[in-house]
Amino acid sequence: MSLPRHLAIIMDGNGRWARQRALPRILGHRQGVEAVRDVVEECSRLGIGWLTLYAFSHENWGRPEEEVGALMDLLASYLGKELEGMLRHGIRLNVIGDIARMPASVRAMLLDTMERTRHQQGMVLTLALSYGSRDELVRAMRSLAAALAAGELTAADIDEQALAARLDTVGLPDPDLLIRTSGEMRISNFLLWQLAYTELYFTETLWPDFKPTHLHEALHVFAQRERRFGLTGEQLREGPKQGGGSH
Ligand code: FPP
Repeated sequence: MSLPRHLAIIMDGNGRWARQRALPRILGHRQGVEAVRDVVEECSRLGIGWLTLYAFSHENWGRPEEEVGALMDLLASYLGKELEGMLRHGIRLNVIGDIARMPASVRAMLLDTMERTRHQQGMVLTLALSYGSRDELVRAMRSLAAALAAGELTAADIDEQALAARLDTVGLPDPDLLIRTSGEMRISNFLLWQLAYTELYFTETLWPDFKPTHLHEALHVFAQRERRFGLTGEQLREGPKQGGGSH
């Protein structure tokens, strides 16, 4: 079965999971962390090279202070508990987003975990934190403008590679598959540039209920898809030609 090299997930539905049980939203997030743990472990076991999780968006800063604080605490506790497991499974932690906005204590834990897992050769686990794709694109364009103003680049040097090299995702392949849970069919400002040719998979399952079996189902559907990258099915079946699609 052909596996995605890079799987990205929008983990949605924690609040609804809690509401269905008349529980506070934060208990939905807490259950969501259990799902994170299982999915990370299963992806690593299956040999997926890159897993990217949308854990906290740029827009999530607007949620009630109590919920934001609780999410930061959950993240810190996750990092504290999972370091040993990451080391055991060869997982390398990576972060995308405007992490300068994260509380100093969480930022320090993130940097420490990244440093300690830096040389690991297994799956790269990327957490999107304080992440918004438009924000990322604006930061990349500002960096291009600065290079242009400094005379390091000319307008003709600005191409797809030059922009991609300034995104937070530099070094990561584009996702092959995006999963979004909870029945919402939106991208919600996640990896807008990088998802250009990604296969999309939406499921009604709420994130806290998303188990390895649901992951297997998504991977099975992905394996059946024909990815054409702008070419025709016939061209793909004939084999690669010079000057074909860009991916
Ligand atoms: C969306 O559910 C989920 C989030 C905004 C946060 C996701 C965070 C976690 C799963 C836990 C922390 C992450 C890690 C990596 C330890 P929602 O609150 O928008 O749900 P709703 O749409 O049902 O209200």
